[in-house]
Amino acid sequence: MAPYIATTSAPVNIACIKYWGKRDTKLILPTNSSLSVTLDQDHLRSTTTSRADSAFEKDRLWLNGVEEDIKPGGRMSTCIAEMKRLRKELVEDVDASAPALSTFAVHIASYNNFPTAAGLASSASGFAALTASLAALYALPCPPTALSLIARQGSGSACRSLYGGFVAWNAGTLPSGLDSHAVQVAPETHWPDIHALICVVSDTKKGTSSTSGMQRTVETSSLLQHRIKNVVPQRMKDISAAILARDFDRFAEITMADSNQFHAVALDTSPPIFYMNDVSRAIIAVVEEYNRVALLPENGGKRKAAYTYDAGPNAVIYAPAANMKEIISMIVRYFPQQDAFKDPFGLFGAAGAGTGALVSGFNADVAKIWEAGAVKGLIHTRVGGGPRVLSSEESLLGENGLPS
Ligand code: DP6
Repeated sequence: MAPYIATTSAPVNIACIKYWGKRDTKLILPTNSSLSVTLDQDHLRSTTTSRADSAFEKDRLWLNGVEEDIKPGGRMSTCIAEMKRLRKELVEDVDASAPALSTFAVHIASYNNFPTAAGLASSASGFAALTASLAALYALPCPPTALSLIARQGSGSACRSLYGGFVAWNAGTLPSGLDSHAVQVAPETHWPDIHALICVVSDTKKGTSSTSGMQRTVETSSLLQHRIKNVVPQRMKDISAAILARDFDRFAEITMADSNQFHAVALDTSPPIFYMNDVSRAIIAVVEEYNRVALLPENGGKRKAAYTYDAGPNAVIYAPAANMKEIISMIVRYFPQQDAFKDPFGLFGAAGAGTGALVSGFNADVAKIWEAGAVKGLIHTRVGGGPRVLSSEESLLGENGLPS
């Protein structure tokens, strides 16, 4: 008999309206709604293979080839248990001839195609890939919204990686969390012109994790209460409208304001949390100057780039595809690269991205030229689709049920 096995991949997402704060830490219910852009899996993805077998003794998990403990009652074990419950309720209880996969132990292997050292959070794509692979294994007749309820319990931001394109996570109000799930605002095909440049900023200090940082903010920041009540609800409406209208100027204005407010509530936490560093702030200065020039009436009067920062010093710069060449040239000028820029869209010829050109009218003194390596890598990507079911050739588990 063929083994019960499925492999899927899931994307990274980067929020424009930030999730920061939980009203229920076990179910992972947020204090505010959030909205993100799903990034293209051709560049960044988590791949997960799940296999159910009556011969397996217990659930086991390997991350990037290394076996991890599945802590009883922890996030991973909750997600696996919830997916087994859905298999039982939606398949086995409905069709008595369906194999009782919900009673079998599972082996799960997951792999990120981006190095952990890049400082990109892998929990969102990782839990989305886990949920999607178990859904495929169990042949669940579930839309992404239903799966997002489960991925959310692995890591809040993971619920947004069940969809491609532009995705909202509705905070919901029910104590059960059943209305706290992802919805697609628009698919990637609606606005494929949105590109992203991830600037990987060097950081030696150990940062505060999102999970513990946001709880400290909930407990101590009065600014967070203002943000939840008076700021985010309107921003969710405004950015959704900007996305539907493909209005980049408005999208950029809201995205940058929300990143800055998120870092302001981190600073308003006691003791304060600093996620950005001097390099992060220098990137803000450069993008703000680029937009100052773009906003001049003679240059069209619209913003051309938007920065956003999560719980670390890395910048993500969103921009329409046509602006990316200027933006990369500008970033490379201020933050010289040690390794040649990988140019997935072929913007630069053999000479590479090293010319350092600035747009006319740009005040070059807004930042100093940093030492090589201050920004240790640049990843150029774009908006992309939701999880994919992959062929058996891409399986991460061998015949013996162990990582291959
Ligand atoms: C700053 O989803 O990593 O990236 O739910 O505790 O796992 P947990 O937190 P996580 O927090 C992400 C915070 C953020 C903003 C965002 O992605 O919306």
